[in-house]
Amino acid sequence: MTAGGLRGSSGYPRPEVGTGRRGGDIDAIVLVGGQGTRLRPLTLTAPKPMLPTAGVPFLTHLLSRVRAAGVRHVVLSTSYRPEVFSGHFGTGEALGLELEYVTEDVPLGTAGGIRNVADRLRSDEVLVFNGDVLSGVDLHKLVATHRDGAADVTLHLTRVQDPSAFGSVPTDENGRVTAFLEKSPEPVTDQVNAGCYVFRREVVDRIPAGRPVSVERETFPDLLAAGASVLGYVDSTYWLDLGTPATFVRGSSDLVLGIAPTAALPGPPGQALVLPGAKVAGTAEVTGGSTVGPGAEVGERARLDGTVLFDGARVAAGAIVSRSVVGRVAVVGEGSVVEDTVLGDGVVLGARNELRCGARIWPGVQLGDVAVRFSTDA
Ligand code: GTP
Repeated sequence: MTAGGLRGSSGYPRPEVGTGRRGGDIDAIVLVGGQGTRLRPLTLTAPKPMLPTAGVPFLTHLLSRVRAAGVRHVVLSTSYRPEVFSGHFGTGEALGLELEYVTEDVPLGTAGGIRNVADRLRSDEVLVFNGDVLSGVDLHKLVATHRDGAADVTLHLTRVQDPSAFGSVPTDENGRVTAFLEKSPEPVTDQVNAGCYVFRREVVDRIPAGRPVSVERETFPDLLAAGASVLGYVDSTYWLDLGTPATFVRGSSDLVLGIAPTAALPGPPGQALVLPGAKVAGTAEVTGGSTVGPGAEVGERARLDGTVLFDGARVAAGAIVSRSVVGRVAVVGEGSVVEDTVLGDGVVLGARNELRCGARIWPGVQLGDVAVRFSTDA
C-alpha cells in the first residue's frame, strides 16, 4: 500500500483513506461476539477467536493481516466473554493497533454487532471481518473494488470446491451481487460469502439499532431489495472458516506449514511448531503442522500429525494423535490412538484408548485404561 493509504485500482489519486472525522487509515470492525457452539467444549472457557492457533490466539493472525494492510483503528464487537479479549490485547499497542472494545448486553447478531459500534467509527468506509475466518484476500483490492464501483457494500466472495455446503452469492458481469441464495444441492455458483466486507458508513448507520440483526439473512437481502449497490469481489486465495473442530485443526496446521497467510507465526513455518517450555522426546514424530503448546510434552515414540496441543498438554509414550485438539493440561495415555477428536481442558485419557470420528470429551473427564475402543484388539 502507499504511504497515503489505500488507493483505487484505477490508479488515479483518491482522497486519503479515512476522510472521516479524524482521518488516517480506514477503520475495521472485527465481529467476535459469537458463542462458538460448534467448537464446544473448547469454547466453554475461551471465545473461539481466542483459542490458541499456531501458537497465538487466532485473532492475532487476523489482526496481523489487518495491520499489514495499513489499518490502525480496529473495533472489536464483543458479546461472549469480552474480558478475555481485552485482558490479552489491551490497547493493541503491541500489534501496532489502536483497539477499542464494545460489548453487547445481549447478543445482537452479525449486523447488530456492526451497528452497535457505529459511534466508534472515524472513517467514511469500514472493513468488517468475521473473527473466525482465515483468508488471504487482498484487502487493498477489496477496498479498491468498493471505491471504484462507488458501492454501498462490497463483499469478499470466495470460490469453494463444494458450494452446496454454503449459501451462494451469484454476481452479474459487472460484479453486482444478484441474490443471496440458501444452501442447495445444486448451487448456481461456487461463490460464497467469505465473511469480510466493506461498508459505506451510512449503510452501517441505517442498520436497526438495539435488536438482533443478521447481515446474511436481513441486511444484505434488504439492501438488494432496496436497489442498493452491492458488489462482490471474487477470488480463490486461501480461505477457511475455523468454526468446526475439523477446520480449526486444519487452519492451525496450515498456518504452521506456511500455507495459510499470517504475519504472526511465532516461529519459522514447518512441520511442527514447538513453543517455549515444551518437550518433545527424541524418538517422537511431530508432523503435519502440529503445534506443541508452551509446557506441553510429547513422549518417546509418540506421533502427532496435524494436531494442536494446548498449554501443558501431555501425550504419553507410543500414543498417536492425528487431526485433534488436546486441551490445556489434558493427558493422552500411553499407546492411545486419538483421531479427529477434541479433548477438553484437563481431560485424562488412560492407556490404550481409541477415540475417533469427531469424539468430544468434556473438560475434566477421566477415562481409565482401555475404556473406549473402536477395535477389538487392546
Ligand atoms: P457457532 O455458534 O459455532 O455457529 O459460532 P459463532 O457463534 O461464532 O457464529 P458464526 O460463526 O456464525 O459467527 C460469525 C462471526 O460473527 C464470528 O466471528 C462470531 O464471533 C460473530 N458473531 C456471531 N454472533 C454475534 C453476535 O451476536 N454479536 C457479535 N458482536 N458478533 C457475533
